[in-house]
Amino acid sequence: MGKDIKKRVLLTGSLGQIGSELAFALADRYGAENIVTSDVREDSHGILEGAGTFTELDVLVKTDFDSIVRDNGIDTIYHLAALLSAVAEEKPQMAWEINMEGLVNALEVSKENGCSLFVPSSIGAFGPDTPLDNTPQDTIMRPHSMYGVTKVSGELLCDYYHMRFGVDTRGVRFPGIISSKTLPGGGTTDYAVEIYYHAILYGSYTCCLKAGTSLDMMYMPDAIKASIDIMEADAASLKHRNAFNVTAMHFDPEVIAAEIRKHIPEFTMDYEIDTVRQAIAESWPNYMDDSAARKEWGWLPEYDLPRMTVDMLKELGERYGRGELEL
Ligand code: SER
Repeated sequence: MGKDIKKRVLLTGSLGQIGSELAFALADRYGAENIVTSDVREDSHGILEGAGTFTELDVLVKTDFDSIVRDNGIDTIYHLAALLSAVAEEKPQMAWEINMEGLVNALEVSKENGCSLFVPSSIGAFGPDTPLDNTPQDTIMRPHSMYGVTKVSGELLCDYYHMRFGVDTRGVRFPGIISSKTLPGGGTTDYAVEIYYHAILYGSYTCCLKAGTSLDMMYMPDAIKASIDIMEADAASLKHRNAFNVTAMHFDPEVIAAEIRKHIPEFTMDYEIDTVRQAIAESWPNYMDDSAARKEWGWLPEYDLPRMTVDMLKELGERYGRGELEL
């Protein structure tokens, strides 16, 4: 495994939370010369320098999408460009356009150029009618958010392109992703990232979700591992293809705050509820069953809440001059 596996990879949405770290992991694995990163925005701060070649791409412009794939001999696409849940609720029409029309372009370009395609789905694909405890892989999905509507539709469309046209589509249902490098852009699970920054910088945090709101979460190194492993998995072992439930931990705001207090005892938290995010969070699983991913392609996360917390506080503590923390 590793560099003996040859891939020519294009990432869309490379400046986002996942893209900005996945790009480096892919460059490390397949060689930076085999990676093309892209985003609708210019990489004005050189965030992706060293992770392959950067090019601007608006995924809604199919001809540009197609040329980049052709000109670079791309065989694998990681299609990460999308709006997250809270932003999508503010701009539902734009969310449909970016999340769905962008995906249709990614699927068409993959079909025409014989590319494998990774598309992340989300816990957001579930809704209030879904069993919220130990949420099964295959279950009722009637999301109430526009983000969720685009995610379920995306899962179905990826299945369709595989069945109808033989496109090698694959994907996972990500939970909230926590990382110390790039902030998430307007999701419901963002609090679980912000809380670490505020703990380090201010010693206190005002949480927008209620105590008791349990959600699945994952630390970035595991999200990267999932993204790479599923694309390298033997197709013959995959009974499902798109939208595997994957999780690494689940907690509510009180539990993550208590974990932080083990290292910063003076940390305090209060609440100011964002009703839009709260309604979304209550319609998402408390915790998912990810046994299909474990069985079909060997999914196994490495980070639980205590280990992730030590790592987050170490990273942010070093960055913001709190090297004295007991970790
Ligand atoms: N983190 C995402 C969101 O909150 C879930 O997929 O929108």
